[in-house]
Amino acid sequence: MKDTYIFGIESSCDETSCSIVKNGKEEIATVISSQIDVHKNFGGVVPEIASRHHVKNITMVIDECLEKANMKLEDMDAIAVTYGPGLIGSLLVGVEAAKTLAYIYNKPLIPVHHISGHIYANQLVEEMKFPLIALIISGGHTELIYMKDHYSFEKLGGTLDDAVGECYDKVARVIGIPYPGGPTIDKYATEGEDTYSLPLPLNDHSYNFSFSGLKSAVINLVHNEEQRGNPIRKKDLATSFQNTVVEIICRKTMQALEEKEVKNLIIAGGVAANQGLRHKISELCEERGIHYTFPQMKYCTDNAAMIAASGYFAYQLGRTADLTLNPKSSEPLK
Ligand code: KG4
Ligand code: ZN
Repeated sequence: MKDTYIFGIESSCDETSCSIVKNGKEEIATVISSQIDVHKNFGGVVPEIASRHHVKNITMVIDECLEKANMKLEDMDAIAVTYGPGLIGSLLVGVEAAKTLAYIYNKPLIPVHHISGHIYANQLVEEMKFPLIALIISGGHTELIYMKDHYSFEKLGGTLDDAVGECYDKVARVIGIPYPGGPTIDKYATEGEDTYSLPLPLNDHSYNFSFSGLKSAVINLVHNEEQRGNPIRKKDLATSFQNTVVEIICRKTMQALEEKEVKNLIIAGGVAANQGLRHKISELCEERGIHYTFPQMKYCTDNAAMIAASGYFAYQLGRTADLTLNPKSSEPLK
């Protein structure tokens, strides 16, 4: 059978990325230009600055990716792009670039939902096995999804307020850790002790999550300790916070696997890089005979390889768009 090459573009937040993926599973080349250093000074992503950097970077990233793969756009079967959800100005840059390439090179245009991309980062590790439960944990999303086949997404539940990555970043900020704080809290959590008492948020039988109460509990704890003149033991607080997050996420994920009688689990999104969570999920899945995959560390956070992988399956299903495609800042996964 003829090989299918998808050219993927991702620009929904603060990474400008392009990638070429063969047959939805083999990464040929990926380039990721991150703006983290730019946004660090502001304590978070500044949308206007992000879109200006995407404009500056996009053509260079496209060229670099083709060069790295030693391929031409003529060799591609389709152009896949993240059309939402995300920052509208940032998305616009990727979508316009993809539409331009699709028009000039007369290639099909494949719109890819950002979360679908995160899910399909697992396809670059091994062929996804269905039915499965997908645990999506990123800076913008926290969701449990049931998939009985490719591109069949049934949402079981999700966060009612903050996303888990957002909560990591906010807690980090309160204790003086620069953006994005998730990786540093994760590192501190391996060095501290669980000595602070924090509430287990939304500990019920639903598949929903809530992290704003946990964030407030950390903020109150820090303020109270400051008022008492007690220095915050950052590593201990990171450990207590991470243990609380890991516990509630694992509890609900295991419940979903059990109730849906599913034996396959995939984890997706930036927080899938978390070592504490990786360790706990592995332990629980091995005990229960659940087959699980995490994306490679480099493809947990935003990248175009996952968009090209997801785009391949969308292409197989005929999910193409015409040149009237517009980005969507908020969009349900479908
Ligand atoms: O998936 P992503 O790149 O962006 C969204 O689509 O939202 O995820 C970024 C998020 C940030 O909140 C970052 O702090 C978090 O993922 N993150 C982590 C870790 N690495 C990245 N959170 C906890 N532990 C980590 N090791
Ligand atoms: Zn993302």
